[in-house]
Amino acid sequence: MKKAKISASMMCSNLIDLKSTISIFESENIEHLHIDVMDGDFVPNFGLGSDYIRGLRELTKIPLDLHLMIKSPEYKYRWLGIKNSDMVSIHYESTSQIQRALDWLSEYGCKRFLAINPATPIYVLEEVLDYIDGINLLMVNPGFAGQRIVPSTIKKAKRLRQFLTERGKDNIEIEVDGNITYENARILRNIGANIFVAGTSSIFNGDICDYETHIREFRKCLDL
Ligand code: DX5
Ligand code: ZN
Repeated sequence: MKKAKISASMMCSNLIDLKSTISIFESENIEHLHIDVMDGDFVPNFGLGSDYIRGLRELTKIPLDLHLMIKSPEYKYRWLGIKNSDMVSIHYESTSQIQRALDWLSEYGCKRFLAINPATPIYVLEEVLDYIDGINLLMVNPGFAGQRIVPSTIKKAKRLRQFLTERGKDNIEIEVDGNITYENARILRNIGANIFVAGTSSIFNGDICDYETHIREFRKCLDL
């Protein structure tokens, strides 16, 4: 089973404590910073943009996990300063040319993840498995923190794992994003997810003085 990694959801952090938040994450070896880039069109919310990404890179070396919740992402990659150490998730539902969008992403040398919303069936992945390093399985309808998991997504995670195994694609990583509580993390880890977006349901549930304890609690749920 792949090593479990935490991707801390930065839309849940507050800007005032950003520097101290980052130093806690660095001392706790958080593997990724999850950046929800939202355009107010693909999702009904505006989110962290290119200035925020640029600023964060000056603050820390923690690899970024860019979750692009934007329409036609393939025409906007160059706005984001994508690095080869990044993971970049684009949504299946955000472009009519998903194979080309994934193909164009390869020039950045980043890890390519395909994100699918709760109602998007797994079979859409069939023809693009050779173009992705991972799948970002949305457990909520994306755009806001603090939501409740869509119940059907747990079974969907199980079917996704099976779908990949049947096609000899166990190398493809599964990221789970949205309402990843300690309980949901444990269940999804057992199913075979290995990257966990940690937001208000775990790390950011409380003040900065609680972050360290919450991270260690979260790690315990992930270590089988
Ligand atoms: C959902 C966002 C996530 C996440 C935040 O659109 O992509 O970052 O939901 O964490 P929670 O759901 O725990 O507040
Ligand atoms: Zn996200």
